[in-house]
Amino acid sequence: MAFPERFSNLPEYAFPRLRKLLDAYAPGGPVVHMTIGEPRHPFPAWVGDVIADSLEGIGRYPANDGTPELQTAIAAWIARRYGVNVSADRQVLPLNGTREGLFNACLALCPETKGGKVPVVLMPNPFYQVYAVAALAVGAEPVYVAATAATGDLPDYASLPPEILERVSIAYLCSPANPQGAVADAGWWRDLIALAERYDFQIFADECYSELYRDTPPPGALEIAAQMGAHPERVVIFHSLSKRSNMPGLRSGFAAGGPESIARMKQLRNYAGAPLPLPLQAVATRAWSDEAHVEENRALYRAKYAIADNIFGDVPGYTPPQAGFFLWLPVADGEAAALKLWRETGVRVLPGAYLARAVDGVTPGADRLRVAMVAPEDEMRDGLTRLRSCLYGE
Ligand SMILES: Cc1ncc(COP(=O)(O)O)c(C=O)c1O
Repeated sequence: MAFPERFSNLPEYAFPRLRKLLDAYAPGGPVVHMTIGEPRHPFPAWVGDVIADSLEGIGRYPANDGTPELQTAIAAWIARRYGVNVSADRQVLPLNGTREGLFNACLALCPETKGGKVPVVLMPNPFYQVYAVAALAVGAEPVYVAATAATGDLPDYASLPPEILERVSIAYLCSPANPQGAVADAGWWRDLIALAERYDFQIFADECYSELYRDTPPPGALEIAAQMGAHPERVVIFHSLSKRSNMPGLRSGFAAGGPESIARMKQLRNYAGAPLPLPLQAVATRAWSDEAHVEENRALYRAKYAIADNIFGDVPGYTPPQAGFFLWLPVADGEAAALKLWRETGVRVLPGAYLARAVDGVTPGADRLRVAMVAPEDEMRDGLTRLRSCLYGE
């Protein structure tokens, strides 16, 4: 039996790898899970009622492109949040969460060649792993660009040699960033969009953490591209209800961008996509139309940022996360630190290296731990306090 080569060199996925590292040992205390970025704040109370009211939709095939109500709610949200007017039916595509969209957008939009050569897909390193699999799926060359403290925790794409930049078809960028918690400000976006205009590549902006911030809403790529008068197809943004609305199980998000890009994504989805069930589209419509629950959610994270800053503020190299819900803590060796923490305290965190690729023998983030602040506040405070005394002393 012949199997494809293209995914055969993928490293083991982060969570099975973590289980192998830790599960041979007993936890050294009551277990606190701080590994997976699964939001655990309550989702809005009205979700059950909306599903019940639209249950007859289970008996119908859902519209592939999303219901007009959902498209309109998303376009209205983009207008309120970013001051950009997009066409609800031509520039918005509801998704089953951002992950599938980030993957399928590459299938739909990455050309076979660029300038007669193999196209390059840029991504930060460390990064959300779907970007690499998407690049490999289309036969592009993934180029992993370090996003470390030395580069402001975002990748310096402009520093790549022109031979690479000329081959770039797509650049992924996550802001607010998982795992670093960094936010690309307006100037940073302007520079990247200008680079993309110069070398003619698309930007896929993974903005699924955009609503979890301290005080100032992070700027969005579509907003900055519109202000600059960039090519209308230059940027595709990806948003989600998983983090914003604490509904990771709803599997609901959207992509928005230029009409040609969205039409191509819809076309692929018509053939091979799995549209969101109608009752869930009704929930998503309500969620994008309501900010009260998002405010409440943000307030819970704000309290968590304050707890983390209080516990780690004097740790050398600690960077308070600007947004999102991860801490990206400096240690000597992430794997050794995660193992020590588990064996001595029962707190479970992810070594930074599991989210990165080695480039020229260096794995960015190997000297970090990713800590998800998703547990209820008391449990989270307890986990962080034990982490602090185990790894950094009192
Ligand atoms: C950076 C990043 N992008 C995308 C996703 C996918 O989220 P979803 O598919 O639930 O919208 C996640 C989930 O953890 C993430 O951390």
